[in-house]
Amino acid sequence: MKVPKTVYACQECGAQSQKWLGRCAECGAWNSLVEERAIPAPVAGGAAAAATGNRYALAGAAGPRLYEEIDTVVSERLTTGIDEFDRVLGGGVVPGSLVLIGGEPGIGKSTLLLQAAAHFAATTGTVLYSSGEESEHQIKSRGERLGVGKAPLYLLAETCLERILEEIARLRPALVVVDSVQTVFSLRFQSAPGSIGQVREAATQLLFAAKGQNIPTFLVGHVTKDGNLAGPKSLEHIVDTVLYFEGEKHHAHRVIRAVKNRFGAVSELGVFEMTGRGLKAVPNPSELFLAERPANAPGSAVLCCVEGSRPLLVEVQALVSSTSYGNARRMASGIDQNRLSLLLAVLEKRAGLNMAGEDVFLNVAGGMTIDEPAADLAVIAAVASSLRNRAIRQGTAVFGEVGLAGEVRGTTQGAMRVREAAQMGFTRCIVPQGACSADEVPPGCELVVVKTINEALDQLMDW
Ligand code: TYD
Ligand code: MG
Repeated sequence: MKVPKTVYACQECGAQSQKWLGRCAECGAWNSLVEERAIPAPVAGGAAAAATGNRYALAGAAGPRLYEEIDTVVSERLTTGIDEFDRVLGGGVVPGSLVLIGGEPGIGKSTLLLQAAAHFAATTGTVLYSSGEESEHQIKSRGERLGVGKAPLYLLAETCLERILEEIARLRPALVVVDSVQTVFSLRFQSAPGSIGQVREAATQLLFAAKGQNIPTFLVGHVTKDGNLAGPKSLEHIVDTVLYFEGEKHHAHRVIRAVKNRFGAVSELGVFEMTGRGLKAVPNPSELFLAERPANAPGSAVLCCVEGSRPLLVEVQALVSSTSYGNARRMASGIDQNRLSLLLAVLEKRAGLNMAGEDVFLNVAGGMTIDEPAADLAVIAAVASSLRNRAIRQGTAVFGEVGLAGEVRGTTQGAMRVREAAQMGFTRCIVPQGACSADEVPPGCELVVVKTINEALDQLMDW
């Protein structure tokens, strides 16, 4: 018998080495190599594999086929019954897709998936909900709270991958949920559950099951302290869609964001509220994000941003106060810190505002993170407004990218942004040139086109 081979795998990047090293040669992480022993596969995985047929074929096709001969299949989307969830998925669940949902503990991953699973079972077909974290009783007691009714929803408290695959092959469910891929382990590996080899094996085998039997599968993934998915980064390459759960545990609202989607737009958002009876979709997120906005307060600007395919109004807040120590502090949450520094330099040089002795704190209200350049003008507006202690004129919303020369540059989807602002009761929009043609402006909303930040500041307040 061949002796099982020992390899050392980096838990950060998945690189393998023949001998133990203190530092991974690939990614440079310290002390990340762990011994793993790969047991030679007993003829293609036993019972589960026999039932799945060819376990290494994704679609069962033999050999290459001519491009023209392949029919386009517009696969029908299956609904999870939760609109906001369907939206992030790109319009519903694609049959045979593998979706990874990441998020911090306690943020609501299991809650959302149980709700989706229950609805799916009630409307579409059998669901297998496999959990390695909670017992059937625990899941059931949560289900009672969520109001899960009678439906073909099967619960399985199991961590062995081969057993889960066997149950999938036996039950032939219409949807599979595996609650936390980190708890699943394969008998073929001797390393501990959650290690890179195990996680990758679990994801790969579940991928073959999903594609081979055309069963959409949701995997829950844990997130490390620094916000990455625990385990291999390569997990993100294996799956079709990666969704991240964001939000603060102390606030009721949660945002799900698509960071990778083979079947839809990325950075698509779904907004939820955690209630006593599970997660509830928020149909109008702009209302939620603007709900606590102080009226007529200096340092508060309203930005029309676009996340995925959806326009969203958020409040950008700035507080500028003279620094009491040598170095001025600049802090940003929800917006890139470097971008803030750049915009402060532009304000200083092009608008003549003296920022040198000022501490600047910037915050996007509601815990949202915005990375589109259209936020620049709102940052400029909020900072200038706080520095001069003048409120921005009532009913004004802004968007636009700011260049180093102090020019305001165009952004995409201007008309959509203006429409959303008008819908939320804003009467003036400060926009870059060419953002929106005159006939696209909704009635009751004035469009103010600006070319430079100086023009924008004149329009925003009496400064
Ligand atoms: P959970 O789905 O268990 O989180 P995860 O699987 O991401 O670790 O979410 C648990 C949290 O949600 C917990 O703090 C309690 C809260 N919660 C509610 O507020 N209402 C509910 O109806 C449910 C089921 C949970
Ligand atoms: Mg959970």
